[in-house]
Amino acid sequence: MLQSKTVVDYRFLLNGEWRKSISEHSISVIGTNKQTVGSVQAMTKEEIDEAANAAKAAQKLWEQQSLDERATLLYAWADELVARKEDIATTIMHEVGKNYADAEKEVVRTASFIKYTAEEGKRVHSDLLHGGSFDQAAANKVAMVNRVPIGVVLAISPFNYPVNLAASKIAPALIAGNSVLFKPATQGSISGIKMIEALDAVGAPAGLVNTITGRGAEIGDYIVTHPIVNLVNFTGGSKTGLAISQKTAMIPVVLELGGKDPAIVLADAQLEKTARDIVSGAFSYSGQRCTAIKRVLVADEVADKLVSLIQDEISQLSVGSPEENAFVTPLINEQAADFVQSLIDDALAKGAALVTRNKREGNLIYPTLLDHATTEMELAWEEPFGPVLPIIRVGSEEEAIAIANDSEYGLQASVFTSNIEKAIQIGNKLETGSVQINGRTERGPDHLPFLGVKKSGLGVQGIRHSILSMTREKVTVLNFSE
Ligand code: NAP
Ligand code: G3H
Repeated sequence: MLQSKTVVDYRFLLNGEWRKSISEHSISVIGTNKQTVGSVQAMTKEEIDEAANAAKAAQKLWEQQSLDERATLLYAWADELVARKEDIATTIMHEVGKNYADAEKEVVRTASFIKYTAEEGKRVHSDLLHGGSFDQAAANKVAMVNRVPIGVVLAISPFNYPVNLAASKIAPALIAGNSVLFKPATQGSISGIKMIEALDAVGAPAGLVNTITGRGAEIGDYIVTHPIVNLVNFTGGSKTGLAISQKTAMIPVVLELGGKDPAIVLADAQLEKTARDIVSGAFSYSGQRCTAIKRVLVADEVADKLVSLIQDEISQLSVGSPEENAFVTPLINEQAADFVQSLIDDALAKGAALVTRNKREGNLIYPTLLDHATTEMELAWEEPFGPVLPIIRVGSEEEAIAIANDSEYGLQASVFTSNIEKAIQIGNKLETGSVQINGRTERGPDHLPFLGVKKSGLGVQGIRHSILSMTREKVTVLNFSE
């Protein structure tokens, strides 16, 4: 277990200066192993106003920088993250309980993301439209359609990828010429601050990126309705996202929210590979991924075999602390584990069959597989964000599609079958942003479009789409004399 050494009181970055809050109130960040990782400042409204003003001023200068200059900063940031990867990965591990190998992968993935973003930003071109194409009478008009920055972007990130899901907003915002107010999840904010320290160290202009720390419940409404903010880019729970979308007015909002991704397994699937993909999809980072496989809808005739294969795979997963590089590690906090346990208890009370053990030690929940789950159970519909997987047996593909689509979520789905034509047909009927054929649900590679429908999101992410979503068209019409 981590023994805390010096507990650092982290500062916020405002207009190029790392400052302590005049609130004189720091929030302790307690890691998943109940040790204090450090503390962050509870910023005041006046400090948030100051940060917003700094971001607004910095953006006016930044948009005048050439794309090459902007890209150079992003390249330097990416290299600096890699240079600091051990420290940042260790912080991610302590703060949000991701095992070290995955935490390090997150940092390296983020650096690659930032570099690709720098390149992609250079390939966003303008359009030229000839007026006469639409209306011969307008043949003397030519429209130059440029993409210009939106202005000040408020980036709000969740705990589960405290570096990647923050940089995946910040880097596209910057290459497009925006400035950023970055509000990390409180548990995850030290990892986020370290990522911004790297950006500051390579010479980001003062005010270009400012960190906003404080509890979302306390400062959330203030920041999302701040008059200087021109766009909110949010990743987190659907409830929070919905509340944000109801509060913002007349500004674009991009939302990446929760999911209840199904794996649909047909009778002709290659069951061994399917079981491996399902277990990796459902249990990596203890199921705390928006894209985790959160229910299996399997054809009756192969259900027994699939359950047995999944059980075998689960028995090989290591369970323990992130420091020991365990695959399944403690959940973000005790409350999250209580919620997962309540879903398991409800399913068991309603007749689900426990295939594995249901063992719990504090916020560590051992991987739990429940067979014969039904649509009467909360687990069929709720997003657990934890290591539990219900198996729902279905009599037909139509039944699988109906149950999949009955969800309020619509992030991703997997279809496992040897019949690719059928997989595509099923995929076409699924109400999700993406469908994976013969693979686990997942976000990457990060340049693919990534989106959720229904309560899973609004707008499209993925490097190119993220850049586009943080720009707008600016039309200049040239009217030639006749
Ligand atoms: P969360 O509780 O909704 O928090 C997300 C962020 O919102 C945090 O920075 C939080 O700050 C902030 N926040 C809280 N209340 C707010 C308010 N009233 N106004 C503005 N901001 C507010 O989500 P989480 O527990 O960190 O993340 C887990 C959820 O995120 C899951 O549902 C998961 O599926 C979803 N997620 C989705 C995606 C995707 O790409 N679709 C990716 C990752 C995660 P505090 O920490 O200070 O409260
Ligand atoms: O938690 C949500 C992330 O966007 C999921 O990313 O599928 O690469 O784990 P991932």
